[in-house]
Amino acid sequence: MYLIPDFKKEIDSQIKKVALETLKIDVKIKFSESDKDLSVYIWYANEYDSIATFTISAMPGCCGIAVSNGVKMEEWCRNRGFGKALHKIRMYIIKRMGYSCVICTDITGNIPQERILYKNNWVRVNSFKNSRTGNNVSVFVHNFSKATVLSWLNRLNFRRWNMFNHCVKEPEDSLWGPDNHK
Ligand SMILES: CC(C)(COP(=O)(O)OP(=O)(O)OC[C@H]1O[C@@H](n2cnc3c(N)ncnc32)[C@H](O)[C@@H]1OP(=O)(O)O)[C@@H](O)C(=O)NCCC(=O)NCCS
Repeated sequence: MYLIPDFKKEIDSQIKKVALETLKIDVKIKFSESDKDLSVYIWYANEYDSIATFTISAMPGCCGIAVSNGVKMEEWCRNRGFGKALHKIRMYIIKRMGYSCVICTDITGNIPQERILYKNNWVRVNSFKNSRTGNNVSVFVHNFSKATVLSWLNRLNFRRWNMFNHCVKEPEDSLWGPDNHK
């Protein structure tokens, strides 16, 4: 997925702006592009440790669907609004690249990510136990078209989910570990 240089510049400055607003730091952005994937690395201070990264991949077999994956931030950057802001930028990139639909997976119970997804009209369409890892995984989908009945139903689900989860103060440590593969 190759971005035209002007669009890359725009995304670069958007990410720098939100990093300054939410984390109060200056960051550098590195894009890694191939036919199938676009990865964005956000660096702070040195070029060895990225503080945040995300990847957008083309779904094999359907050019209308993107797969959002590899969303990850260093722990000290979390819970400061940066994840929410990056999600907005990610969705903007995916839409501008011409995709009509995007899917992602998440470990069930990952509260920050689920809050972001539910609040932005993603629909949880499936959940299963991954027999390779033993993790419970949720599958979320977002359509870039008008709200559907499904997304309204999802809002109701979010209310139910929120009623249950707002009392959870701290997430389980195991959910945030760096090697927590889905
Ligand atoms: C998921 C992730 C990208 C979210 O980014 P973030 O910067 O921590 O999220 P934000 O600060 O923007 O918060 C998003 C929402 O979650 C809530 N939240 C954040 N951390 C929370 C915590 N520890 N406990 C409860 N709620 C939390 C925020 O209050 C916010 O909710 P709101 O919209 O109602 O205000 C980040 O936590 C992360 O990298 N986690 C590890 C990797 C991962 O889980 N990746 C995604 C799945 S593949």
